[in-house]
Amino acid sequence: MSTRHILVAVAWPYASGSRHLGHLAGAYLPADIFARFHRLRGNRVLMVSGSDVHGTPITVRADAEGVEPQVIVDRYHAEIVAAWEAVGISWDLYTSTGTENHHRVTQEMFLRLLENGLLEKRTTEQLFDPKAERFLADRYVEGTCPHCRYENARGDQCDNCGRTLDPTDLIDPRSKISGATPQLRSTEHYFLLLSKQADALREWLETKTTWRRHVRNWALGMIEEGLPDRAITRDIEWGVEVPVDDLGPGKRIYVWFDAVIGYLSASKEWAGSTDDPGAWEAWWTDPEAESYYFVGKDNIPFHTVIWPAMLLGHGDLNLPTDVPANQFVTFGSEKASASRGVGRSIGWYGDRLQPDSLRYALGAVLPEQNDTDLSDGEIIRRVNEELVATWGNLVNRVLSLTLRHFDGRTPSSFSPTDEDSALLASVDQAFITAGDLIERRELKAGLRTVMETAATVNVYLNAHEPWKVIKEDQRRAGTILTTALRAIAGLSVLFEPYLPFTSPDVREMLGIGGEVSWTRPDLPGSTELGTIKPLFEKLEGDELDY
Ligand code: MF3
Ligand code: ZN
Repeated sequence: MSTRHILVAVAWPYASGSRHLGHLAGAYLPADIFARFHRLRGNRVLMVSGSDVHGTPITVRADAEGVEPQVIVDRYHAEIVAAWEAVGISWDLYTSTGTENHHRVTQEMFLRLLENGLLEKRTTEQLFDPKAERFLADRYVEGTCPHCRYENARGDQCDNCGRTLDPTDLIDPRSKISGATPQLRSTEHYFLLLSKQADALREWLETKTTWRRHVRNWALGMIEEGLPDRAITRDIEWGVEVPVDDLGPGKRIYVWFDAVIGYLSASKEWAGSTDDPGAWEAWWTDPEAESYYFVGKDNIPFHTVIWPAMLLGHGDLNLPTDVPANQFVTFGSEKASASRGVGRSIGWYGDRLQPDSLRYALGAVLPEQNDTDLSDGEIIRRVNEELVATWGNLVNRVLSLTLRHFDGRTPSSFSPTDEDSALLASVDQAFITAGDLIERRELKAGLRTVMETAATVNVYLNAHEPWKVIKEDQRRAGTILTTALRAIAGLSVLFEPYLPFTSPDVREMLGIGGEVSWTRPDLPGSTELGTIKPLFEKLEGDELDY
């Protein structure tokens, strides 16, 4: 099979605050596991995202602090970039929507949709704050959700039922700026004519039979409810400029319209940094290319309906292959700590845990099908009882025994019994089983398969007791240890997408250098072992206390 082109597109976090473990488990970690797996498979991965720097999430925060939006953006963009670094998110490009390139690509998309008859200028009534004397876009207004009656719905989306909203949809709206009851005033805006595309979208979604059920049902449900045309410009001064001048001043493109275009603009920016500026096309215009959008549950409408509608309207670009959106992770302790004014950001955990320990604990509980609660106690338990006890100890005990009894080299002779061969066959089988699961975006099950395979090696060792056999039969002990060492070499690759920091360390200890691919690496006899050191620290239990 020829090399596949795989776009790993990951939700653009607002640069308006610290990002939390829920975000990491919801989108970034799964995307990274998937991307690393495909690179090991030899596929061409392009993994992009960036900070979402526009819209009312940013300006509301800036207003609250009495600073310019750019101050907020710079602060949190830097923090978010540091968080990705700390936990090893392997971007090909992590940029922001504040770039000139992004503004241009957004405007080009706007003009293209306009040309294709999918945008229309309309006079509409928008909410106006008579005290503050300004229009109230999106998050500047709150009120009751017309769908689920949640009383604190925001003008852009209801946090309770997840539906996308326009400020005028809210019942009993109130201004976040002055508390005043907004009035309706007319103003002109561009609308994306989603209603024109409902049939094409439904047809496309109906072919997506392998999507997660909750994602596909959500998208089809939106279309069933009737797709209203949506304003894609706002009365706001912070955002991408509208590329036609007939709207008048004080208008910008709506943040969600520009943010989703980020996937395309970032791909172009990435290509521009290579020696082939057209390289992005291999992921976007070749119908064989695949694209996976890793997002949280609240982003489903924008990635399964609105962005596909824009792509369809553009005409020349690939639609998502899948949107493996996750449910939410909730944290038992999150609320209490927030009220103490202490944010438990990704960086906070990154300062206290080894990155692979954090990745393991989250990887084991990814909210792929259901909302999942995670506590610090659960993180500690997963690290100690699974990662350290099963995998870390396995590596340590087999390598230490080999070091002690075979002079720091892998044993030179290997005469496997059926049982030895069966163990290695089960590791080889794990490449197929875990590989299929990761392919299907069942990353949690993939990790479980790998950990169970590691546990099998422990069972094998306990059954064959090389530490006893060594006393009578050096050759047999050598074969048992070689079997275990080869299994460990395979496991180091199987774990690599999940544990990218320590997996190469394992191979270094085994004396295996160089690149690996998604298969059990060779480990010849008489290979000199590297320096052996513990992979993971066992947690005392107070690491995550304040
Ligand atoms: N900034 C949005 C959020 O945090 C996500 C944007 S994803 C993209 O919910 F589609 F716009 F890229
Ligand atoms: Zn609602």
